[in-house]
Amino acid sequence: MEWKTRVTELFDCKYPILEGAYAGFGNWQFAAACAEAGAHGCITASTSRTPEQLKEDIRSCRKATSGSFGVNLSFGICPRIEDMLEVCIEEKIPVETAIYKPDALAPRIKEGGIPWIHKSARVKDAQHAEELGADAVIVVGLEGVGFKSPEQLPTFITTSWGSRQVKVPFVAAGGIGDARGFLGALAMGADGIMMGTAFMATKECPTNEASKQGMVETSPDNPRLRWRVLSHASPKDYAEVLRKRGDLPLSEWLPMLERIQPKDSDWEGPPDIPEPSRVGSLAVGAIDSIPTVKDFIDGIIREAEEMVEKWAWVKGR
Ligand SMILES: Cc1cc2nc3c(=O)[nH]c(=O)nc-3n(C[C@H](O)[C@H](O)[C@H](O)COP(=O)(O)O)c2cc1C
Repeated sequence: MEWKTRVTELFDCKYPILEGAYAGFGNWQFAAACAEAGAHGCITASTSRTPEQLKEDIRSCRKATSGSFGVNLSFGICPRIEDMLEVCIEEKIPVETAIYKPDALAPRIKEGGIPWIHKSARVKDAQHAEELGADAVIVVGLEGVGFKSPEQLPTFITTSWGSRQVKVPFVAAGGIGDARGFLGALAMGADGIMMGTAFMATKECPTNEASKQGMVETSPDNPRLRWRVLSHASPKDYAEVLRKRGDLPLSEWLPMLERIQPKDSDWEGPPDIPEPSRVGSLAVGAIDSIPTVKDFIDGIIREAEEMVEKWAWVKGR
């Protein structure tokens, strides 16, 4: 079966599956493994640290795979973000901007003529990115990890409602990690999915074995995990930080916004609840082993095709 959607057309990848970005370990080797397996891989520019290194990393990735990959530029995390963008334009590599509004980079991305996808936590930020000319958008639902907003909605409604709000291709994310989530997202109107947590439990992910095993062992209904992932900033703290916007450089303001998100430290529930994995989203519910990236993606595609086959009765076949 050919998995052809507007996302596979935009990025020229085999499957409408995007690798998430990872500050600290989203390197070219991992991106190449994902691209080789048919997904759209992602080099996280903040992991490359400098534009010079990013250029080398892009070239190394190109040598390692003929598959599709892009570069994540996260506002507030990525150093020298404008110079990083220049490297992407020179190398003709798709970019994924993330976190908050991409206004500062939008004109240059459009001028550079490279494919551009923007990732946000709110549907309204996706709409804004579309107005600025983004070719596609990713909206991460509450079940996911990363930037949180009091206006963020669960992935189900984010995808079914959000995909109706934009005309450009829509990528669903947040708690997705298996064929059910993949097909469900497509059925809800998405043109593709992004997975962050689920890719982290693969052999090639450059994180330690203990954190991978932690994700295998953590159940999505662990109350501490649920507390950390599903909580968002208190509207009071959020309003306080928003008031400071404009008074500080974006590079200082965004980390401040990020710092009000984590709920790890203030768990006030019963003490006998097992400590969940320190990383990862509710997608841990889909993680029960640590396969290679290829086996992981092949498994999702195989299972999705079996499910579609089972649904053939819908067409009266
Ligand atoms: C350890 C970790 C680091 C991340 N770092 C970034 C980052 O630097 N920039 C970014 O845009 N997203 C980052 N993300 C978010 C992912 O790219 C992706 O949007 C998210 O994981 C999707 O939700 P899921 O984990 O439920 O699949 C990170 C996620 C994890 C787990």
